[in-house]
Amino acid sequence: MDCIEAIMSRRSCRSFSDREVEEDKVIKILECATYAPSPANKQPWEFTVVLDREYGKRLKEESERTKEYLASRSGWKWLESFNLDFVTQAPVLIVVTGDPSKNGAEQYLNVPGKCYVDACSAAIQNICLAAYTMGLGTLWYTLYEKDTAKAIFGVGKDPVAIVCLGYPAVPPGATRRKSLEEKIHFIR
Ligand SMILES: Cc1cc2nc3c(=O)[nH]c(=O)nc-3n(C[C@H](O)[C@H](O)[C@H](O)COP(=O)(O)O)c2cc1C
Repeated sequence: MDCIEAIMSRRSCRSFSDREVEEDKVIKILECATYAPSPANKQPWEFTVVLDREYGKRLKEESERTKEYLASRSGWKWLESFNLDFVTQAPVLIVVTGDPSKNGAEQYLNVPGKCYVDACSAAIQNICLAAYTMGLGTLWYTLYEKDTAKAIFGVGKDPVAIVCLGYPAVPPGATRRKSLEEKIHFIR
């Protein structure tokens, strides 16, 4: 599969099979993550690979709380039927933590320091694409309160996202994209 095909056909996976993920694949996927760009090449990411399913159960409990809170604040009706079983189904959770002190140039430019999150996001996208080319499914997951996630996983830095990783139980459904006309602007 070439890069363009991977980008255009990857979809978020919310249903994982029981099949374990080979450790060498996990390592290769994380090596791909570390090849993402980062401000001043600071590489602000770390990856905690969670194979013990007990942690997924705790994360799901936290996510149910966050979901309720989000539903009450947003009024998003669809959240009521949003099933979080994928959190406990996924055989691998990758907690991607970012170091806010590794921000590159912006820390000297009087702008809010968030480049470390941008870099972690680039790493996460590499994870999603690399995993997909290996036949795996991923979900970029953020439905949790960060301090609680830190406590659950024993991480000190900012848990930017958790990637649910595993073999898909069913192929993920298609999602729509807005028109290119709406999104692309040329300055000639
Ligand atoms: C920053 C970020 C946070 C996300 N958080 C969640 C999440 O908490 N739960 C979830 O189910 N999907 C989450 N997603 C996945 C998006 O819902 C998904 O990418 C989007 O609907 C487009 O679908 P696709 O990935 O299949 O193209 C997140 C994606 C991003 C980039």
